[in-house]
Amino acid sequence: MMYRNIFDTHSHYDDDKFDADRDEVLSGLSENGVCGVIDCGCDRESSLKAIALSEKYDFVYAAIGVHPHEAQEATQADLEELKALYAKEKVVAVGEIGLDYHYDFSPRDIQLELFEKQLSLANELSLPVIIHDREAHEDTLNLLKKYKPCGVVHCFSGSAEMAKEVLKLGMYIGLGGAVTFRNAKKPLEVAAVVPAERLLLETDCPYMAPVPLRGSRCDSSMIAYTAEKLAEVRSCDVQVLIDQCRKNAKELFKIGN
Ligand code: NI
Repeated sequence: MMYRNIFDTHSHYDDDKFDADRDEVLSGLSENGVCGVIDCGCDRESSLKAIALSEKYDFVYAAIGVHPHEAQEATQADLEELKALYAKEKVVAVGEIGLDYHYDFSPRDIQLELFEKQLSLANELSLPVIIHDREAHEDTLNLLKKYKPCGVVHCFSGSAEMAKEVLKLGMYIGLGGAVTFRNAKKPLEVAAVVPAERLLLETDCPYMAPVPLRGSRCDSSMIAYTAEKLAEVRSCDVQVLIDQCRKNAKELFKIGN
């Protein structure tokens, strides 16, 4: 199992789980076929770290924004500081933003208000969004229909029906380690219906390591297992799928060669 040109559209190398060996892990990725990653910030601090990583490594790009978990802590000053940073060359998206009604770490009205604010900012800046939607499918879909951003719903956990609605809006579907889990049913149904040119590969590392490495700290090289599962479901060649997904990522996030 050795693939090339893997592009991971969703990672968190800024996470403290990489504090002990971050540079070692990142430097080793290219040997394992990884050619690009997007590091997604979740609040002011992690967004600044994502930018720092993008400035240190050629193949790292940054998405910056405030995650629904952190919605309640974000200050107006944080949002203004982030807004000024979208002008940076390697900041390619507004994310990760969205709604999480599973954990409800921030009250829903605050999550909704901040999500709308960031959707509208993305449109104002003509940047794609990276959306987190956990158990908030209806509200997420309604707001995507209202703002019509370009972007991706990452770690897509809705039904195949919802996927079709998201695709109709012109958006992309991000699939990761969850497609390899034994209880994966919906993600596999989704994987089967997404057109090749709208699919993105991702890890969400350090989380969501695919089977057979489930439970371990994930990194972008493990995407190979996810790609194999997706290729199996879609009856296509693994490297062809990886190449198409890289092409999709570069198109969506306007990354040159
Ligand atoms: Ni994430």
